[in-house]
Amino acid sequence: MFNMANKKDKRELTDVLLSAQKLYKPSKEFQKNTNFPDYEKTLKTAAKNPLKFWEEAAEKLSWFQKWDQVLDDKNKPFYKWFVNGKCNLAYNALDRHIENNPKMHNKKAIIWEDETGRVRKFTYLELYKEVNKLVNAMKNSGVERGDRVAIYMPNIPEIVFAMLACAKIGAMHSVVYAGFSAKALADRIEDAQAKILFTADGSFRRGKIIDLKTIADDAVKQAKSVKKVIVVKNNNAKVNFNKKVDIWYNDFVKGFSDVAHCAEMDSEDPAFVLYTSGTTSKPKGVIHVHGGYAVNVLQTMEYVWDVKGDEIFWCTADPGWITGHSYIIYGPLLAGITTVMYEGMPDMPKPDRIWKVVEKHKVNVLYTAPTLIRAMMKYGAKWPQAHKMPTLRLLGSVGEPINPEAWKWYYKYVGKSKCPIMDTWWQTETGANMLTPLPSAPLKAGSACKPFPGIIADVVDKKGKSVPVGKGGYLIIRNQWPGMIRTIFNNPERYIKTYWSQVKGSYFAGDVAFKDKDGYFWIQGRTDDVLKVAGHRIGTAEVESSFVSHKAVVEAGVVGVPDPIKGEVIKAFIILTAKTKPSDELKMELKKHVRKEIGPVAVIKDIEFVEKLPKTRSGKIMRRVLKAKELGLPLGDTSSLV
Ligand code: PRX
Repeated sequence: MFNMANKKDKRELTDVLLSAQKLYKPSKEFQKNTNFPDYEKTLKTAAKNPLKFWEEAAEKLSWFQKWDQVLDDKNKPFYKWFVNGKCNLAYNALDRHIENNPKMHNKKAIIWEDETGRVRKFTYLELYKEVNKLVNAMKNSGVERGDRVAIYMPNIPEIVFAMLACAKIGAMHSVVYAGFSAKALADRIEDAQAKILFTADGSFRRGKIIDLKTIADDAVKQAKSVKKVIVVKNNNAKVNFNKKVDIWYNDFVKGFSDVAHCAEMDSEDPAFVLYTSGTTSKPKGVIHVHGGYAVNVLQTMEYVWDVKGDEIFWCTADPGWITGHSYIIYGPLLAGITTVMYEGMPDMPKPDRIWKVVEKHKVNVLYTAPTLIRAMMKYGAKWPQAHKMPTLRLLGSVGEPINPEAWKWYYKYVGKSKCPIMDTWWQTETGANMLTPLPSAPLKAGSACKPFPGIIADVVDKKGKSVPVGKGGYLIIRNQWPGMIRTIFNNPERYIKTYWSQVKGSYFAGDVAFKDKDGYFWIQGRTDDVLKVAGHRIGTAEVESSFVSHKAVVEAGVVGVPDPIKGEVIKAFIILTAKTKPSDELKMELKKHVRKEIGPVAVIKDIEFVEKLPKTRSGKIMRRVLKAKELGLPLGDTSSLV
């Protein structure tokens, strides 16, 4: 939150206020051709009756049986949407296109490219057949409705096959980002009690093959619930193969029919679990369902991403995060458009790879993260300037606040000052875009604009009272929406405590923000102990507990410090055992240790050995004090400090 007593915050607020004065409006021609040309009217219409807005959204999908109530809020906060409706997420993303529209058969569903330049394309019919074969093979291996299936794979077409096949069976997928370690994977498999695991021999990164199979093997040694490991041959890498549990993907599906039954699910049946970091060392298994999630994601495709049926959509996220779930896979497929997948680094072999992919595959919508934009800025504007990218018409940003400077660079050099930027604020828990402009909205560089139609958001103080314009406070959502988290897997108490106990009746997002005089939201970051490193969500408690698992460490306090490219990086304050001598070698060893425990996603920038950590009387580490010291800021209220 802004503290006007401190110089740095003063400067940031001034930056924001200056950029808040300038409005970037779409051209009249562009605006006229958007799905919802009158931005304010669109918001007003939805606000009059949000339930009607969502009911009309649900009517755009195919239902085996219609719902008899839009929202059941009797058992708060366990809300139910489209009560007694019967549907299936995969049916809506795939089968209905094939059954209802022969023209869709030959339309491209997936265009995939990897770092080495290999390209694979799948039409909707090809994708449908691949998914069906896998459905039959999985059922033959005993996967049933309600089971959990773990997926630890690179950004390749088979991850889409696996996710859709799970949904079609009614089994829940649990995708674990391939940048997590064996231990992190094992913990997630164990929590979900997944029966099978999908993985690959490897994944290309900066010309090297990342050996995913060995990591998966280590995880399976710890996670006893896994009975079968299905391995995609992605790189022809030499891998260890244990015939008792491992089977190559191609052998697994061989001989199975390409026609398969689709399970009729209840709207509220869970479609997937996705683990995300919170304030404790144990990640939360966020549950999303078949009905509301599909409705909400599709609605954002039409409103935010302005799809009309023929777009080529490229979201540069990884399928292991919610952005990948909703906007590489389900969103584009629910909308019946073409999704682009790229497996590799954005600057390989040269810093114009992203712009080349956009041109080569005629991308219309590019949805990426501020950290990638800042990394590209470092190479210079000449790289995007050398590419006209004539098909681009809309840009997107997600994952962390985008600084006005990066926003302007993205707008000018990538969008050629004609593609509006959808800065979308949302979370693993929200399922789909929540605060966002629509393409017809006037934009402000660095603001996520206003709530999506049908969403009521606010910025409040500790008591839940709205704070005045320009004043920082907690971001909350006052109403419910179909794509919302339903619970935390195996932990409904944590669901209630984390999201519904801070401000009565409202969803507590865990972010701080302020609203300006025009009602535009400006997100400042997290209020809790969650970090955003290169847009990846990591809990400080997770990192601390991995430090403490090293024999030389007694206690650890971890904070995020600002970084010009990654947004935030990790700094750790460590107390060593009495007999351990601090040294640079030990710092290296500890960094490696954390990388092994959590995965390459947890990059430790700096370690400082200390004698003591600031604590409250109850023994909680005051990370806020550590951070203030690190950044040279006033310590704030230290009355509870021992
Ligand atoms: O702090 C907010 C930040 O990312 C958090 C959610 O992280 P995750 O669940 O990993 O989902 C990321 C992608 C949906 C939020 O609580 N965040 C996300 N988008 C933005 C953002 N912060 C500012 N602006 C955004 N556009």
